[in-house]
Amino acid sequence: MCGIVGYVGEKKATPILINGLLRLEYRGYDSAGIAVLEKDHIDVRKDIGRVKNLQENNHVEELSGTTGIAHTRWATHGKPSKENSHPHLDNSKNFAVVHNGIIENYSELREFLTKQGYTFYSQTDTEVIPNLIHYYYHKNGDTSLVNGFLRAVTDTCKVLKGSYAIEVLNKDFPNTVIVVRKDSPLVIAKGDKENYIASDIPAILSYSKDFYLLEDNEFAIITTDEIHFYDADLHEHEKHVKSIEWDASASEKDGYEDYMLKEIFEQPKAIRETIGTRFQDYICRFEELPFTKEYLQSLTQIYIVACGTAMHAGLVAKNMIEKLCHIPVTVDIASEFRYRNPLITSHTLCIYISQSGETADTIAALKLAKAQGAKTLAISNVIGSSITREADYSIYTHAGPEIAVASTKAYTAQVTLLSLLGIYFAQLLETSTKEDLSVLQNAILALPNQIAEVLKEENLHILQNIAKKIYQEKDMFFLGRGVDYCVALEGSLKLKEISYIHSEAYAAGELKHGPIALIESGVTVISILTDKALTPKTVSNIQEVITRGAKTVVITNDEENIDMNHYDFVVTIPKTSSYVSPILSVIPMQLLSYYIAKEKGLDVDKPRNLAKSVTVE
Ligand code: G6P
Repeated sequence: MCGIVGYVGEKKATPILINGLLRLEYRGYDSAGIAVLEKDHIDVRKDIGRVKNLQENNHVEELSGTTGIAHTRWATHGKPSKENSHPHLDNSKNFAVVHNGIIENYSELREFLTKQGYTFYSQTDTEVIPNLIHYYYHKNGDTSLVNGFLRAVTDTCKVLKGSYAIEVLNKDFPNTVIVVRKDSPLVIAKGDKENYIASDIPAILSYSKDFYLLEDNEFAIITTDEIHFYDADLHEHEKHVKSIEWDASASEKDGYEDYMLKEIFEQPKAIRETIGTRFQDYICRFEELPFTKEYLQSLTQIYIVACGTAMHAGLVAKNMIEKLCHIPVTVDIASEFRYRNPLITSHTLCIYISQSGETADTIAALKLAKAQGAKTLAISNVIGSSITREADYSIYTHAGPEIAVASTKAYTAQVTLLSLLGIYFAQLLETSTKEDLSVLQNAILALPNQIAEVLKEENLHILQNIAKKIYQEKDMFFLGRGVDYCVALEGSLKLKEISYIHSEAYAAGELKHGPIALIESGVTVISILTDKALTPKTVSNIQEVITRGAKTVVITNDEENIDMNHYDFVVTIPKTSSYVSPILSVIPMQLLSYYIAKEKGLDVDKPRNLAKSVTVE
């Protein structure tokens, strides 16, 4: 939530800041703003709505300074308005601050500062920060860089409660930005006579591949030539630079109309790279994990904890791990897990899935389990992300940067990696036969080509055609049983997120316990049928909705067992193991949501009210 960018160097800061904001817009797009250090003042320009408004309507090209900070906002405290937009200045206009996160004790701090004579011009929690910095800067009376400016920032952070990634400009220090993070992401890219700051790596990947990933409560003073790191007590320390392998073009649209479409089409590659070289001689290898047969046998419970799409990937894995490994698996929504006092012992393994690795609830849920003695395993798409730094062990999907807010390739890569993990556990535990595991291995290896088959022109036409027929609807239902129910939840989420059509996913057998009351003529019901054993049962449930006038879309690989002419639309997908069928069946649903959103003329990459990385509770 909220994206921040910074630049210190010899070039004009504004185009770099705007470019970074455009790349970070997926983190929030309620308003955008920049602050640039001009000769004798800090110049702030902001506007509501998209970065484009800031860029086109505020004469930002006039700014010539070479040091600046910028922000794109996902509103929490205070409505989207100019005065609530970042950067925020202190009353003296000496300090400018951008902030991602939430200051939980801002009311109390605001009251304190008001008593000291400070005035507030916004409803944000952030505005206390520049004023506190100003307060401590003058209270300490030191005007040097470390003992003055930095100390004012560290003193401020000592009284802040909540989460933050902050950039600070001080009018008295040209070519300098101070940054700090706590529970919100921030990275620094090292250039030649210039340095860059951003909320995530792809935003500034085109400028440098050498990154510093800031830790919680770590401060940095960034100047044109140098970057110095400090703790909260002003002790300086060394930090290793990390080279990032991602290709800068991976964060471009590459000729596709939208990132989402590009990312849907990148799925064969994402799956291939996630499988990588893990299979060798019919053994699935996770050399980075230290698990032994004894440890896995000692487990009484595995929790899989995540939010949104990542949680849906966990549901698919539960089915597989329970069947292959005979260990009970519970899938939890992170925001629930962290407050429900889950039963955690040293015989519990907690797996956390997060594409970004920065989701606040997932990180908090991980910290909780770790404190209670469980081993924690993170699955993320971002190397060095917060969750991977907190967890005991980490493994990665290799989907490349995912920019569209609605997750697509991250989901299929997560399901793939979890399937590999399931095989790895089952091998160690010897709870499944070698034959069964090699059938599953072959199914996984075939997935990249099978996904490419689902993405063929002919299917795209079918799905575009369905979208044209149903895009004006108000409500839709997704039905499935077993693993098809798990993927129905993801299909329904995709549709809601980008088309704004109300949709619900139901276990097909549960339909008659309530939701069938909503089925009437014209309502579209999308069903997934990929498990032969369950096909006749789901077919009966579809019949029940047809009888009540529903329009039906069926996604299946079980053509032999259904009457293809009985439904309004049928989309076929290749046959595969039912453990991994969601990796194929989700794709028509991703595309259908995409085409429906396009028919409605919506911005598929940046759906209203949503953000890609939810770094607040
Ligand atoms: C947001 C995104 C979703 C994502 C969820 C979890 O809601 O819009 O696409 O699934 O966060 O994100 P994570 O990065 O933890 O997987």
